[in-house]
Amino acid sequence: MDINAVKAQIESEIENINSVVGLEEFRLKYLARKGILAQMTVVIPTLPQEERAAFGSRVNALKQRLLSLVAEKEKSLAVDSSSQQDFSFDIGMPGIAQELGRKHPLTQIIEEICAIFNRMGFLTAEGPEIETEYNNFTGLNIPLEHPSRDAFDTFYIRSPQSTVHSPQKRAKNYRLSLPGRQAGTIDHRLVLRSHTSPAQIRLMQARKPPLAVIVPGRVYRPDAVDAAHSFMFHQIEGLAVDEGIKFSDLKGTLGVFAKAVFGQEIKTRFRPHFFPFTEPSAEMDVSCIICKAKGCAVCGRKGWLEILGAGLVHPDVFKQVGYDPKIYTGFAFGMGVERIAMLKYGINDIRLFFENDLRFLKQF
Ligand code: PHE
Repeated sequence: MDINAVKAQIESEIENINSVVGLEEFRLKYLARKGILAQMTVVIPTLPQEERAAFGSRVNALKQRLLSLVAEKEKSLAVDSSSQQDFSFDIGMPGIAQELGRKHPLTQIIEEICAIFNRMGFLTAEGPEIETEYNNFTGLNIPLEHPSRDAFDTFYIRSPQSTVHSPQKRAKNYRLSLPGRQAGTIDHRLVLRSHTSPAQIRLMQARKPPLAVIVPGRVYRPDAVDAAHSFMFHQIEGLAVDEGIKFSDLKGTLGVFAKAVFGQEIKTRFRPHFFPFTEPSAEMDVSCIICKAKGCAVCGRKGWLEILGAGLVHPDVFKQVGYDPKIYTGFAFGMGVERIAMLKYGINDIRLFFENDLRFLKQF
């Protein structure tokens, strides 16, 4: 191999290098373990004895020259890297698209509904999904013989309450004075809450009136899953307590809510109903959004759709939480979020909310 030719080649090549990548390629070509210089040293043992030393030292000199050329080039590239084009980063290359996620339709509608009530002065609060039997039933005036307390209608949790609270605290919290129950009976079991109403008990125990709160959350009932039922769904609870709250306050508040969610042309009506924790109690209907109250399959030709339960807080519930029912009155309501979303968007199967099918979710 002719050392002078290689040297000339090196000098002309490095002249034309104008990028860090190019320089690295050049460096590897000559200085890598199997690069051109290494190949030149490999031949040394095959040379006649008397030529070896001279050849070796010339290769070494060439290597020194090469190293200093590379170092020099490196410096000059670094100095004017701003003016030099660096091909290691191609700004013309197509980017990697970042797909934007979005909120689940149920989250969207929960936020929308809470915001409507927030504008009317309600604060948003939350309660736990694992509740005491007392908060879910007894404190709400739901007697032991009520069908909703049956194991077919509620998920009971086996772990003993005593692991959660001291016996003294339990006795204080759950001692009952309801008619039909023995004084001192303790509701020690835990349940997956079957409605958001137990949050009423927690809030009233924790605060003094006046209060106005809205409570979104998950609830659980051991229902077989079909197009209209799910073992888990969402409710939004409302509670307002003050002196002089009347049924008309409830009607006015829920009327504003219904128009804000479904449109200004929507009508509401209240039908008498029964809940153990409200008196009087009612269910609220809205004029059918699908057929504009003319009568269709969705509203069963009635022109009205039931959307929530409501009423004035029962005096016995106030007594349970230590509010004086002679001073305070209040209203409460509870609605199913999935049902409202299904009516608002014309969704015909509740399972769509929980299957995480992007073809469905992307529509919201
Ligand atoms: N908790 C009731 C239910 O799940 C709804 C409701 C809430 C009714 C508040 C009246 C007052 O059916």
